[in-house]
Amino acid sequence: MDIRTIEWKKNVIKIIDQTKLPLTFKYVYIKDIKTLWRAIRSMQIRGAPALGAAAGLGVYLAVKDSQAKNFPEFKKELDNAVYYIASSRPTARNLFWALERMVKVARENKDKPISRIKKLIFNEADKIIQEDRAACRKIGYFGAKLIKENNTILTICNAGILATIDYGTALGVIYRASEDGKKIKVFACETRPMLQGARLTSWELNKNNIDVTLITDSMAATLMKAGKIDKVIAGADRIAQNGDSANKIGTYSLAVLCRYHKIPFYIAAPISTFDSKIKTGQDIPIEERKGRELKELFFKQAIAPAQVKVFNPAFDVTPNNLITAIITDKGIIKAPYGKNISRKFR
Ligand code: MRU
Repeated sequence: MDIRTIEWKKNVIKIIDQTKLPLTFKYVYIKDIKTLWRAIRSMQIRGAPALGAAAGLGVYLAVKDSQAKNFPEFKKELDNAVYYIASSRPTARNLFWALERMVKVARENKDKPISRIKKLIFNEADKIIQEDRAACRKIGYFGAKLIKENNTILTICNAGILATIDYGTALGVIYRASEDGKKIKVFACETRPMLQGARLTSWELNKNNIDVTLITDSMAATLMKAGKIDKVIAGADRIAQNGDSANKIGTYSLAVLCRYHKIPFYIAAPISTFDSKIKTGQDIPIEERKGRELKELFFKQAIAPAQVKVFNPAFDVTPNNLITAIITDKGIIKAPYGKNISRKFR
């Protein structure tokens, strides 16, 4: 399936509106950063690497028509855009990593004409996109070596084409194993409350002719007990120095279940998802989303009393001791994570 989740097209950001899938495949064209902010917050675009690309292009979108006459003026506009985009969603490291790259490029070229700095900012955003395409394929290459013929893999949320530029991390491993000719099956957890597994993962795996079966999140234990799952592979939104990994809410429960049932549990993520400033998972900021996501069936029909209190964290943290290995674009990382992660960064 040859689609791009996000790209720069005719001077605007073009994204697939993921809130409309699987019913409608529709592009949205983003011309200003307020619209981009809303697209990120409402999850029209989502998934850590795709958010990195959105942040990079977003900064360019914000400054491309700047009339600033000198670098301090330009930098002020840039900082405002960066600060604003950073406030859209807190957990995915890639979003902040991309913003930091944009600021660094501007700062390092501050003596150049503003028109040149704008061009360099665009080049950096484009580089982030190209790097993600390559990183996902490398994750697929390393991860596919772990997959055996006739394996059944369980995944959660969407760590596929729609969460990246065009290949995926956890699903990239599945795509690569399938391209290598291995016969594999996938169980996709529906992923309450926003149903990324049901709406997005089963949609893209179906389109790519991967054998996929949809389950509710609470069915995973039953399948594991029945010996039907060989491996679990999930993506990540942010990985701490010690390997603790934040991903979609429900990932931690899968890792606990894997330990009990002696099933390997893998995280697949690019190096851009690692946060070298955060020591352990305790320090990873976890987004809490609106109660409406739980109380209404996709904002259409009430499924709980309107006045009921809701707890709705979008992510949880899987401690490193439950992770069999982290599949990255720089190879596979195993315990001891602290030592082996810092070695990769060196
Ligand atoms: O809330 P979402 O849909 O943005 O959450 C996305 C995930 O949890 C993904 O698994 C993660 O970003 C990895 S995507 C390659």
